[in-house]
Amino acid sequence: MRWQTRITSLFGIRYPQICSGMTYVSTAELAAAVSNAGGLGLIQIGHLSPALAREEIQRARTLTDKPFGVGLALIMPGAHENAEVALDERVPVINFSLGKGDWLCQRAHAYGGKVIATVVTERHAIAAERDGADALLVTGHEAAAHGGDVTTMVLVPAIRRVSTLPIIAAGGIATGQGLVAALALGADAVAMGTRWAMTQESPVHAKTRELIATKSVSDTLYTANFDGMACRIMDTPTARAAARKPMSPWRALWAALQLMREQGTPVRQVVANFRRHGALATLQLSFFAAAVERIRLAILDGDHQRGVQLIGQAQGLIDDVPSCETLMQRVMQEADSGFTAISAQAGNADAAVAQVTR
Ligand SMILES: Cc1cc2nc3c(=O)[nH]c(=O)nc-3n(C[C@H](O)[C@H](O)[C@H](O)COP(=O)(O)O)c2cc1C
Repeated sequence: MRWQTRITSLFGIRYPQICSGMTYVSTAELAAAVSNAGGLGLIQIGHLSPALAREEIQRARTLTDKPFGVGLALIMPGAHENAEVALDERVPVINFSLGKGDWLCQRAHAYGGKVIATVVTERHAIAAERDGADALLVTGHEAAAHGGDVTTMVLVPAIRRVSTLPIIAAGGIATGQGLVAALALGADAVAMGTRWAMTQESPVHAKTRELIATKSVSDTLYTANFDGMACRIMDTPTARAAARKPMSPWRALWAALQLMREQGTPVRQVVANFRRHGALATLQLSFFAAAVERIRLAILDGDHQRGVQLIGQAQGLIDDVPSCETLMQRVMQEADSGFTAISAQAGNADAAVAQVTR
């Protein structure tokens, strides 16, 4: 019972651990494996067509009878349609980022679903609470992809001060010691990304797994030139070239149109998206779209000549590829021993229990 928190109660899960939504990585298999191991797996559906998103959700239901969720960035083309699929499928947990999710909260709550808002600033946290989110996923600077400007160590307590919502801390966490630290900072659970990507159930290519295992905590770049928004990627010669200068907006727009065609997004939705988000956001999502193919090449094909790998600083803490079940148990054992070590140091285990487990 030691690790029961507001998040385990909210989602009906055993351990305060979530597998982040990761493009191409967070499939139905990975999400279901994490949920079966006692955490909450999220399927990333932002880059899928609505039909594929529905297929993934239905596939997850054949792989687990435990709660699971989906993740999507509302700014992406087709995101609203995919959110409609998730609502229609009554997915237990929906995690959204980069957009206003009040309507999503209302609709999910109507069937008993829960909504997690990803935030990287105090202002976003306050807005998400006002909009009806059930929990906040607070992503610090160490994280793969789009963590905030502020490190997890500082961002979690800062958001704890302005919000009463349960917090899921993300960014730089790969061990049970990280879990204990996050709970001590005021979080109610953690979401690991890079660590779950290095498991047997993850689709990450063998070559990419080998590369991740050789990299240190310093081998990442943080640049806005890759997909138009400050983004953490693995330091490789290809990534360095991509980080050197911003992509031309025309190339980005062209890539976005290609992606929409692949997703089967009708022209009227492109226009609706433009009206909903405006010109700047449309340009931003064009940069995202342009980056998607390079992300796919690195993750699924192990091609680092053309591909670019989204990765967090935590890569330097990882050198093996366990099953999700093994990793879950290992992290909880590390948390137990980390907690015991702190308690012994403090010499007051009871007071520490009251502080760390709520
Ligand atoms: C391979 C990979 C792909 C990712 N794709 C996305 C994505 O599509 N959208 C998103 O918001 N975050 C994405 N992330 C970030 C994770 O959702 C999460 O915030 C991050 O991995 C947490 O930090 P950590 O990697 O230090 O654990 C990705 C992360 C990885 C490793």
